[in-house]
Amino acid sequence: MPALRVIGPGRAGMSLAGALEHVGWRVEPPRRRGDSVVDAAAGVDLLVIATPDHTVAQVAAAVRPVPTTVVSHLAGSLGLGVLAPHARRAAIHPLVPLRNPVAGAARLAGGAWFAVTGDPFAGLVVGALGGQAVAVDDADRPGHHAAATIASNHLVALLGQVERVARAVGTPLDAYVDLARAALDDVANVGPAAALTGPVARGDLATVQCHLAALDPAERVAYRALAAAAARLCRPPAARGGDTLLLETVADLRAMLDPVRAAGLTVGLVPTMGALHEGHLSLVRRSAAECDLTVVTVFVNPLQFGPGEDLATYPRDLPADIERAADGGADAVFAPAVGEMYPEPVATAVDVGGLADVLEGQSRPGHFAGVATVVAKLFSMAGPCRAYFGEKDWQQLLVVRRLAHDLLFPVEVVACPTVRDPSGLACSSRNARLSTDQRRAATVLHQGLAASSALIGAGERDPAVVRRHLFGFVAAAPEAVLDYAEVRRASDLASLERLEGDVRLLVAARFGDTRLLDNVGVAVPATTGTGAAPRPLAATRGLR
Ligand code: PAJ
Repeated sequence: MPALRVIGPGRAGMSLAGALEHVGWRVEPPRRRGDSVVDAAAGVDLLVIATPDHTVAQVAAAVRPVPTTVVSHLAGSLGLGVLAPHARRAAIHPLVPLRNPVAGAARLAGGAWFAVTGDPFAGLVVGALGGQAVAVDDADRPGHHAAATIASNHLVALLGQVERVARAVGTPLDAYVDLARAALDDVANVGPAAALTGPVARGDLATVQCHLAALDPAERVAYRALAAAAARLCRPPAARGGDTLLLETVADLRAMLDPVRAAGLTVGLVPTMGALHEGHLSLVRRSAAECDLTVVTVFVNPLQFGPGEDLATYPRDLPADIERAADGGADAVFAPAVGEMYPEPVATAVDVGGLADVLEGQSRPGHFAGVATVVAKLFSMAGPCRAYFGEKDWQQLLVVRRLAHDLLFPVEVVACPTVRDPSGLACSSRNARLSTDQRRAATVLHQGLAASSALIGAGERDPAVVRRHLFGFVAAAPEAVLDYAEVRRASDLASLERLEGDVRLLVAARFGDTRLLDNVGVAVPATTGTGAAPRPLAATRGLR
């Protein structure tokens, strides 16, 4: 029979030793704190280092290696690296609570699960105990250990909350423990999503709110966090796309977002027309960082395309978009069909006067009414949220801000800096259509904006001069057909007599069939004179 020795006779080490002794293994006396461990690997087949996680590497290094002895630790989150000096290394993490060595040994010998890594001897140990081994790579061990911690420690912490809340109303913990046992059985039988019952699963927000009102404020944080976790489980199962959910109906979108908000969590919305690139993803990442739940909308909105524009050929690739959105941290992609977005007949449209009539609005009549209508509908569907828009489409950003303000949408519009590729070209779904030559030529937009900003930096305050400079710069590129080049007040695109305050340089040009936009901001100091250099309004971000 194999022999083992344990260093660190705590609960875990002694439980394992007891369980293996029970199945006939020879167990050498353990090494305790203060004992020498130099020869601990001698004369045994398995040396188990069961000291606290942060000491395992130090203890392993102090043991003289014996080539035939397998050295293992029992830590869930550590890999094999901490056992570096030893040739035969393993990690054996038992997935059972080990409260004391006697009960622990019985549990370990009772068909337990073990997460194993490294030397195949680990599998032999699990086999000897009649357990089930699951292989977990070194790199995955922290994730595995997090799952194990949630399943055991956090579950216990949750039942601690049950005890406190029950005590407040004079009911016994036992009643709820039986309930928890039954729920656990259901999870084992049908999985968490199908096992979920209760107000969040029913979308019963009134009850969730009534609970929150009844709870001691100190208990609300955990309740809200778990109500949101429950809401994640409620996503319609047919619509799952990897970890990020695909939603196609307004009802599904609302069913997902309402309970999340009722639980006190925040929603981030990233409206797009798809063909997601780094510019879009910067919005998604920011939303994921700032909000509890992020929804990316993908909808090529026919209303904002004029006759003869590129609606039919606009790039579409929903599976790739779902994957990219997921990489950016989105929880869901809302991609409705045209009929879902615009049930026939449509009589209502949103028009943002003034702002929407200049520049892009002049070049593309009706464009901003299409944008404003679809964005208003998205805001209405999504409900209270933070909505992320790119400065790349400066005029659109202003239009959207204005409509949210005028129509009192409970939406905070968040502006995100323009993302550019290494050549300076602003990322755009339409860049994919440019030929190599056109792509090279299109960098003139950014260069022109930079050169004209520099002119302001050098003290130029006459908008006409700056505009002519920008116009001339872009128009000089043979492949570019310039549409407009303007310098306007940043906040409302008003024309200026003299450059002062936050101004925006905006340009639109066609390269072949592809129309591109770009803009930059410059903060012009109020003082006159040429000495004070303006600072950029918002940093533009390059690709990392
Ligand atoms: P789309 O062109 O797909 O852009 C979606 C969002 O991404 C917009 O807010 C846009 O400004 C932002 N964006 C695009 N390129 C960017 C870049 N290089 N850097 C930073 N942000 C960038 O804009 C639309 O779709 C539509 O008009 C829409 C608002 C979705 C309404 O249909």
